[in-house]
Amino acid sequence: MLKNKLYIKTWGCQMNEYDSSKIADIMKNELNCQITKSVQKANILLLNTCSIREKAQEKLFHQLGRWKLLKKNNPDIIIGVGGCVASQEGKKILKRAYYIDIIFGPQTFHRLPKMIYNARKFKKYLIDISFPKIEKFKFFPLSKTKKTSAFVTIIEGCNKYCTYCIVPYTRGKELSRSYKDIILEIKNLVSQGVKEIHLLGQNVNAYKYFDKKTNQYYTFEKLLELIAQIKEIKRIRFTTNHPKNFTDELINIYNKIPQLVNFLHLPVQSGSDKILNLMKRQYNIEKYKQIIKKLKNVRPLIQISSDFIVGFPGEDQKDFNDTISLILDLDLDMSFSFIYSPRPGTPASKMKDNTNILEKKKRLYLLQYYIKKQTKKFSFKMINTIQLILVEGLSLQNHKFYGKTENNRIVFFTSSKNYIGKFVNVKIIDANIYSLYGEFISLHKM
Ligand code: 5AD
Ligand code: SF4
Repeated sequence: MLKNKLYIKTWGCQMNEYDSSKIADIMKNELNCQITKSVQKANILLLNTCSIREKAQEKLFHQLGRWKLLKKNNPDIIIGVGGCVASQEGKKILKRAYYIDIIFGPQTFHRLPKMIYNARKFKKYLIDISFPKIEKFKFFPLSKTKKTSAFVTIIEGCNKYCTYCIVPYTRGKELSRSYKDIILEIKNLVSQGVKEIHLLGQNVNAYKYFDKKTNQYYTFEKLLELIAQIKEIKRIRFTTNHPKNFTDELINIYNKIPQLVNFLHLPVQSGSDKILNLMKRQYNIEKYKQIIKKLKNVRPLIQISSDFIVGFPGEDQKDFNDTISLILDLDLDMSFSFIYSPRPGTPASKMKDNTNILEKKKRLYLLQYYIKKQTKKFSFKMINTIQLILVEGLSLQNHKFYGKTENNRIVFFTSSKNYIGKFVNVKIIDANIYSLYGEFISLHKM
């Protein structure tokens, strides 16, 4: 019998990485697939794409062109394209890449085994980029992991429709996963040694699940309380958030749950109300500042990171200066920043844009200069402090152990003993902008 060997290439965010790991679990379970890192050895090639900012189409056909040659030598190879570009382009992909067997969307990858079976049997391409009513989560087998920190998706899709963003069209409407399934997945991870959970979703703080049995809504706050009851989970992280859903209730939860880290990613996008309005972000700068102020009342040491878009249509020098001022006023930590990229079919792509690309690049450069300066300031402040690290592994590059601090910095440290999977106290002795160096001090009993 044909042995299935699967190669997956993933573009994009943590969410796509998570989806790819679930695809691998499903394929192992149902098709007895072996996962390979070598594309030459595989007979099933899947590309999990992202279209949030990149010029994804060209990149896609470039990649597929390489795989076409492999298929020429071995026609039994199955090629599948999934993720957001597949969702966006659908059948159109076949016009340029007729040799593709399967096109699947972010919400239909649980159907891949059946699609592969059919593609082989009927020797015909198959497309399924629908948004099914029964969500894919129901089909996830329990995964195996050797890691100490794990991602868990709690909500999919987005209803916000920011004017620049493709996500609501490619991933569909907000769909919260059952809290029971989430807890089951976390307990399964805990039984394998996981101590830190990173909750994922386009808007985790919009989580809302209606339990028909108890006739009750489970909010994000309630979910956090349930996770916090799992005593082996010592750290909880979550990305990404929307300021509109960052309620007082959620802020107060930081008082009740010490496992929530003192680090929050809360995308603001711009420091100008005019631009936020054009982006349809549904909050203003005052509201964003209030959230941070209230949060810092509860957690004085919390560090905030953000996302920024520069060069949005209509952004003038003053709007841009307001963005820089916001970073400094709120003392923001390491943030992500991008030049606005028009996405097909979005309202912003039809807005008048008078700023030339050179000016946009200049703004991005300046913005990143300030963000880097802030990041460096926070990292360097940590020199000579003792930090709590969850040890994740041994680096093959510098032969030092590594793990993360609460504020999401990677620390490489020396230790005569292997403490992988444990929390340790490490003295920071040196710093780069994004990473730190230290020495083992003691094992931390939690
Ligand atoms: N252009 C540039 N950046 C974008 N983002 C989302 N859509 C676009 C776009 N069209 C950025 C936002 C978001 C992050 C995940 O990607 O900053 O928070
Ligand atoms: Fe996109 Fe806005 Fe939804 Fe975030 S909140 S995924 S930026 S539409």
